[in-house]
Amino acid sequence: MIIIAIDGPAAAGKGTLAKRLAATLNLPYLDTGLLYRATAKLVLEAGGNPADHETATAAARALTEADAARADLRDMATSKAASQVASIPAVRAALLAYQRAYANANGAVLDGRDIGTVIFPHADVKLFVTASVEARAKRRQAEFIAKGEHIPLADVIADVAARDEADRRRTASPLIPAEDAILIDTTTLNADEAFLRAMEEVKKKQAIFSREKMAPKGTS
Ligand code: DC
Repeated sequence: MIIIAIDGPAAAGKGTLAKRLAATLNLPYLDTGLLYRATAKLVLEAGGNPADHETATAAARALTEADAARADLRDMATSKAASQVASIPAVRAALLAYQRAYANANGAVLDGRDIGTVIFPHADVKLFVTASVEARAKRRQAEFIAKGEHIPLADVIADVAARDEADRRRTASPLIPAEDAILIDTTTLNADEAFLRAMEEVKKKQAIFSREKMAPKGTS
C-alpha cells in the first residue's frame, strides 16, 4: 500500500501525472480539487455566497460522492468559488476525513494543494508539480478551447495568477511545497518526462520497502 501526494498550482499537470501514476501502479486516484469545486457548486446553485463560512461549511458537510463526480465543475465561476470555499478552515476540516479514509483503504494517488503538508504529511512519495504561469494558462486555455469556449489568454493568465495568489496567501493550509517534496517543473518537462521523473522516486521508495521486507526481524 503506497500513498503518493501530488501538490502544486492550477494547471501545472498534476492531474495528468496523477492519473498516469495511478494507472501504472494500479492505485485509486483522487482529484481533491473536485471536493472544493463540488462544495462551491452546491453553494452557487443554492444562490449562496461561497465566501460565507457557514454556508460553505454546511455544503462541505453535505457533500456526496455523486456531487464530486459531476462533469460540470470546471467552469471559471466554479473555479473562483472553489478557491473561496477552500480558504475557509471549517470547509477544509469537513473534507479532511474523507480524503484520509479514501487513501488509507487501499493506498492512492491524491492531487491537490495540501496533500503532502496536511492531509498526508507521511505520504510515501511527495511531488510538487509546478510550471510558469504562462505555460499553465496556455494549457488551461487549450482545455477551454477543446470544450468550445474561447477565452483570451490574458484573461486566463489573470484568472490562474489570481487563484495561485489566493491559494498561496490563505492561512488555512496554504499552497507550499512540503519540505521533503520532489519538485517537478513542467515548464520544460513534457508529460512523459514528468512521469519518468516521478517513477524514479516511486521506484526508490519501492526498493526501500522491499529491503525492509527482506530484512530479518530485529535488524534495521
Ligand atoms: O486543483 P483545482 O484547480 O481543481 O482546485 C480547485 C480549488 O480548490 C483551487 O482554488 C485550490 C483548491 N484546493 C485546495 O485548496 N486544496 C486541495 N487539496 C485541492 C484544491
